Amino acid sequence: MDLAVKIGKIKLKNPIMVASGTFGYAEEFKDITDLKGIGAIITKSVTMKPKQGNKPPRLWETTAGLLNSIGLQNEGVEDFIKNKLPFLKSVGVPVIVSIAGETINEYAQLAKKLNIPAVSGLEINISCPNIKTKHRLFAQDAKAAASAVKAVKKNTKKTTITKLSPEVTDICEIARAVEKGGSDAISVINTIKGMAVDIETQKPQLGDITGGLSGPAIKPVALRIVWETTQTVRIPVIGVGGIMTADDAIEFLLCGATAVQIGTANFLNPQAVIAVAEGIEAYLKEKNLSNLKEIVGRLK
Ligand SMILES: Cc1cc2nc3c(=O)[nH]c(=O)nc-3n(C[C@H](O)[C@H](O)[C@H](O)COP(=O)(O)O)c2cc1C
Repeated sequence: MDLAVKIGKIKLKNPIMVASGTFGYAEEFKDITDLKGIGAIITKSVTMKPKQGNKPPRLWETTAGLLNSIGLQNEGVEDFIKNKLPFLKSVGVPVIVSIAGETINEYAQLAKKLNIPAVSGLEINISCPNIKTKHRLFAQDAKAAASAVKAVKKNTKKTTITKLSPEVTDICEIARAVEKGGSDAISVINTIKGMAVDIETQKPQLGDITGGLSGPAIKPVALRIVWETTQTVRIPVIGVGGIMTADDAIEFLLCGATAVQIGTANFLNPQAVIAVAEGIEAYLKEKNLSNLKEIVGRLK
């Protein structure tokens, strides 16, 4: 059974990656799952300087979903290279580092610093909803999105995946802009901004009031965006949003996703990636197919 896929220059043995921010730096999962069974590991987003993140509570479970307002907490890129990357490299699967900048220059600097052998690719996170800025997200403006991609491309030889926000009027316009900017692939979607309220205290459930919604609640939106963007760009589209089972992943592949990412499901089942890979293989067998490519984009 051939589940291998290629995203830019990165070869994955199967199309299932772990989504940024839901799998730490992989070391946290080393005793509870088979890391070698993962197609590629996408790290928690890394920023130039350490970030403390938002005030707690930062997680709130909703009907069929999860709200988070982590606020990109991380120790910064220098610490990442020194203390997190050596373990990630030792796993032996492609390592894709998610980068988040506050300015175009920061994206450029992050790309330069991470243009090192242990890194297979960069996911350019231009779509985190939990960051306070006076401006719109880079992902909400075609020109700004393309500029971030160009700045990264100028400073790296690595494969780049640009992660888009669903919160735009025309997702296809943004997808085309980042393709034109030189991105090797796109990933859709980041979380959708939401909130929840405690009616006893009459306060928001999250310390930062709003947060990003993930999990099964957002799957129909993510699927629609995969389907729409695959009609308009030639670069690979990676589907992410609410994938809990192999059946969910197969829906994304049928809609045109070259690969998928698993996020919230990792919190419920650390072995979700392995279960999804096995389930896709079983589906292909049942349909008498031997290659993943025979289902990608085959929505009738
Ligand atoms: C707790 C948590 C932290 C996240 N942190 C990041 C992050 O640092 N960078 C990023 O690009 N996406 C981040 N995300 C978004 C996920 O990568 C993913 O796009 C989203 O959760 C939708 O997929 P899912 O429904 O499978 O979780 C985070 C999601 C959660 C739940």
